[in-house]
Amino acid sequence: MRHDLLDKFLQDKQCLAVVCNQWGDTGKGKLVDLLAALWADIIIRGTGGANAGHTIVVKGQKHIFHLLPSGILHDVTGKINVIGRGVAFDPQAVIDELDILHIAGIDVKNFKISHQAPLVLPYHILIDRIGDKAQQIGTTGRGIGPLYTDYTARHSLFLNDIFNKDLFREKLTKYLASKKSILAGLDKNVAKEVLAHPHLASGIYFNPETILDVEAIVAKYTGDFANKLKPYIIDLEKFVQNALVSKKKILLEGAQGTLLSIDHGTTKYQTSSDCTIAGLAKGAGLREGQVDHVFGIAKAFYMTRVGHGPFPTEFGGLLSEKYCEQGITREQEKAEHADKIDEYLQADDQFNLGIAVRLLGDEYGATTGRTRRNGWLDLVALKYAMQYNDQSLTLTKVDVLDKFKKIKLGVAYKYLGPDIFYAGQELKTNQEIDFFPRFSEILYNCEPVYKEFDGWQTTISDLENYNDLPSAIKVIVDFIEQYTGGKIDIISVGPDREQTIFKF
Ligand code: GDP
Ligand code: IMO
Ligand code: MG
Repeated sequence: MRHDLLDKFLQDKQCLAVVCNQWGDTGKGKLVDLLAALWADIIIRGTGGANAGHTIVVKGQKHIFHLLPSGILHDVTGKINVIGRGVAFDPQAVIDELDILHIAGIDVKNFKISHQAPLVLPYHILIDRIGDKAQQIGTTGRGIGPLYTDYTARHSLFLNDIFNKDLFREKLTKYLASKKSILAGLDKNVAKEVLAHPHLASGIYFNPETILDVEAIVAKYTGDFANKLKPYIIDLEKFVQNALVSKKKILLEGAQGTLLSIDHGTTKYQTSSDCTIAGLAKGAGLREGQVDHVFGIAKAFYMTRVGHGPFPTEFGGLLSEKYCEQGITREQEKAEHADKIDEYLQADDQFNLGIAVRLLGDEYGATTGRTRRNGWLDLVALKYAMQYNDQSLTLTKVDVLDKFKKIKLGVAYKYLGPDIFYAGQELKTNQEIDFFPRFSEILYNCEPVYKEFDGWQTTISDLENYNDLPSAIKVIVDFIEQYTGGKIDIISVGPDREQTIFKF
């Protein structure tokens, strides 16, 4: 990695952000860890919750974080990691992660949490898991949707509340009233299954008579959780504004991805916070205008999605979506297909190509272990996402396609559904479009139009300079810049912090 190029680029910056331009899992953790190691004083998570799974690889050792910011390994060098006000805060999840670090010999000293973060409560997890059986979004089951629903319905408790026991009990009792009717009709078998989730403490928060056990929740949240979390609580806005005045370098860590955003994602098949820079800045206690540079990430030259929802360029289309629903594990897929990867790359079967990419890219969920659906890089979707996040692009996982003979990029869609009214006009069957209709019922009927490129068929993970990359990659990079109007600043060629090429 060329540290000199990064230093030069960053010298006049005070606030940076890392967000995803796809459906998540693009390597935000890797980039945040890198910038935390080399540049930032303060790292802030601003959106999402324990639905996130951010992976960091340092010298071959892998760490996965869900709620703790991805700069947390640099706490030992005095860097401050913060959970912002926009984060769906699950105390149990954070305590579990702190415990894992403790066991690994890392006791964090500089970690902070906004007192305004909305609290994930046991019933959010329960309602999420029950609700998804009907909704079929394929959520991570971490209580995210129900928590943010309560937030906008003004039925939320906040982290600050766990330090005020009587107030906590009063609010909880009041807000629970509306939940009891939902939970009263709970099927016993479903209850048994969902209550087994560790954050529901094997059901101790629920008793059969009252369904929800207020006193058990009060005792845990205002007792054990409050004691453990008290040292970390801050007033985020005050902290961040002081940090700006004292010229601290601030790095914002996004979660999920723009195509999952509640405001811009593919309808229904979304998460419940705004994953763009706008949501991130707000959730981190800042204004968007206070961010000097936004690194928007995209996997290249493929992309992935976990859970349900439209994915026009998916390898193997709906067959792959169904296949990935089945709960097949990394181990099962490895055992059955690892020795056939070369064969799959030679043939033109798109479904098998997807299996090969999953194995080569290790595309299995960092939070749920689910097989990630995958497909060619969709430039229509990328251009759409970039308009919400600025024009700087970071391409990750380019090394995964090292062995491919041909690369295809989605450059338009052919709409195959029935005639439909869209944005004031008629969208007709068989019409070719070059925009991203975020409505899932339309996207499910969009077939991609591809442009094909030659592959490079050589290993790139050890390269350090953009000029040393094979010309086949540079041709595609130029095309993406031209198509999107963006500028590719970083190319990641391996999971390790060092396997990063700067093109500033
Ligand atoms: P995040 O949610 O955006 O932080 O991404 P995840 O951690 O869920 O998934 C990204 C995966 O890709 C992780 O396993 C990373 O270690 C890995 N990764 C990141 N960048 C690269 C890269 O350039 N090449 C390869 N091969 N793996 C990468
Ligand atoms: P990171 O930060 C990929 C997806 C879920 C589901 C939808 C809604 O690691 O990129 P939710 O539990 O949020 O209500 O689920 O969003 N999803 C993610 N997919 N990466 C993530 O986070 C995700 N967080 C949520 O799979 O389709
Ligand atoms: Mg992830």
